[in-house]
Amino acid sequence: MDFQLILDEIHAELRPRLDQAGTGAQVARYIPALARVSPRQFGIALRTCDGTTAQAGDSAVPFSIQSISKVFSLTLAIRALDEALWTRIGREPSGSPFNSLVQLETERGIPRNPFINAGAIAVADRLVSLGDANAELLALLSRLCGEPIGIDAEVAQSEADTGFRNAALANFMKGFGTLDNEVTTVLDVYFRQCAIAMTCEQMACAAGYLCRDGAHPLAGTPVLSAAQTRRVNALMLTCGTYDAAGEFAFRIGLPCKSGVGGGIVAVVPDHLSLCVWSPALDATGNSYLGRQALELFVAKTGLSVF
Ligand code: DON
Repeated sequence: MDFQLILDEIHAELRPRLDQAGTGAQVARYIPALARVSPRQFGIALRTCDGTTAQAGDSAVPFSIQSISKVFSLTLAIRALDEALWTRIGREPSGSPFNSLVQLETERGIPRNPFINAGAIAVADRLVSLGDANAELLALLSRLCGEPIGIDAEVAQSEADTGFRNAALANFMKGFGTLDNEVTTVLDVYFRQCAIAMTCEQMACAAGYLCRDGAHPLAGTPVLSAAQTRRVNALMLTCGTYDAAGEFAFRIGLPCKSGVGGGIVAVVPDHLSLCVWSPALDATGNSYLGRQALELFVAKTGLSVF
């Protein structure tokens, strides 16, 4: 398959739609540093299991990975804790917005899954207990894509200044005993992981272990076991795009994880990992053009986990 041709076609088809007037799509407004990002950007990149790369559009422009970081913090937590992780975090789709508080009340402070904000904050708490969570995450990402990866300090500060809902989630979980560490410490780690900046090309490479049964995309050494990798992919498919996860599975049929920076990473097991980015979001907090790009990609390639 000529992946470069396919990505060029997708880029050419979607570029005229960058003017999203009338669609309702807009950049995340609740984090001021993200509200300033131009919506007129679109990038896409992939890397196959044999190391072939393809890219189009703004694929080399760094963007705020936001909730895509949750895949990699989960990876660190599974690696360190394996089954023990699941005593405080569930594995069911929430069917609710990513920052919803309602289920925590009736479910005794146990978040539905590690990809909603509450779940990722609970994962961050586990990582804080194990060491320097942000440093570990940056080291993992840098190793996975073979380039130094850093945090956008302005975005991290902007998240900390306006993260009132996340503070509510963390305090609520602390009240139920889900968090062991200080709320302020855990939130600081969570805000900083969300503020990591990467390009589509870096992310397509970094996610490569997810399509290789857990093997490092560059070194081939184990990042996760094959069984652990299948579980991360299963959670991405069922929970990675929040209350749109059913629609993503129906229309795209690949494990995906989105972030409110407008990035979506997708995995085709045994084939390739893919990252698409366009900052304007739909009502569910998923990239408006990113979703369309993934639909076009599976239509053109016939790739699916089903
Ligand atoms: O905590 C937040 O709200 C953001 N830092 C991350 C949320 C996010 O990316 C949800 N994804 N679609």
